[in-house]
Amino acid sequence: MSAGGNEGAVVIRTATGDDLDGIVRVGHETWRATYEPIAGPEYVQMGLAKWWTADAVIPGIRVGRTLVADDGGTVVGMASYGSQDDELVLWKLYILPDHQGRGIGRSLLDEVVARASQLGHAELHVSYIEGNDQAGRFYERNGFRQAHREAGGSGLPDEIWLVKDLSGGDVALPADGAVAREERGTR
Ligand SMILES: CC(C)(COP(=O)(O)OP(=O)(O)OC[C@H]1O[C@@H](n2cnc3c(N)ncnc32)[C@H](O)[C@@H]1OP(=O)(O)O)[C@@H](O)C(=O)NCCC(=O)NCCS
Repeated sequence: MSAGGNEGAVVIRTATGDDLDGIVRVGHETWRATYEPIAGPEYVQMGLAKWWTADAVIPGIRVGRTLVADDGGTVVGMASYGSQDDELVLWKLYILPDHQGRGIGRSLLDEVVARASQLGHAELHVSYIEGNDQAGRFYERNGFRQAHREAGGSGLPDEIWLVKDLSGGDVALPADGAVAREERGTR
């Protein structure tokens, strides 16, 4: 599968162990560029230590739920998804800054949506942190609707949760309001 437009050389595929370094690099470079201006360097250091070590990334590769955008052998973007309770969540979607705005994010998202449907899910869930307006616009342009806000707590930014209906029917949205923060292993 190729990304659209003039990104014909970029292939969207399931990650293998050989992609580990490239995935971690995408996470580190994109997290710094995206979140330092919004949430500061301490937030970035916390997130990189928690979600972007080899130990944090390998499980998602092992279960086949990590995708990469491969540009001639270089990993320039990645996505990973997984279950939380009965819901399927897009935990990570990151494109290297120099490769953003070329349709790669949309191609990765399309593949996650296709897989979610194949798995029988009627919805796909995602969150972004308050202030990451680029991500919010991207998800809303790609069919997600805001569902609820999750309080960050301890000086951390709030998270805005969105849902995309995969069934073609109506989605029951929860009432607005903060919900308890839960630990996640795969973001
Ligand atoms: C948010 C993010 C994942 C979106 O991915 P992306 O690859 O930049 O997004 P896309 O290129 O698919 O789409 C963005 C815009 O690029 C342009 N675009 C899309 N396809 C294109 C193509 N083939 N050629 C040129 N431009 C294109 C369009 O203007 C598109 O806007 P549209 O949806 O109105 O059409 C990416 O910008 C990113 O990694 N941001 C930083 C990290 C982040 O915030 N991640 C999300 C965490 S919740």
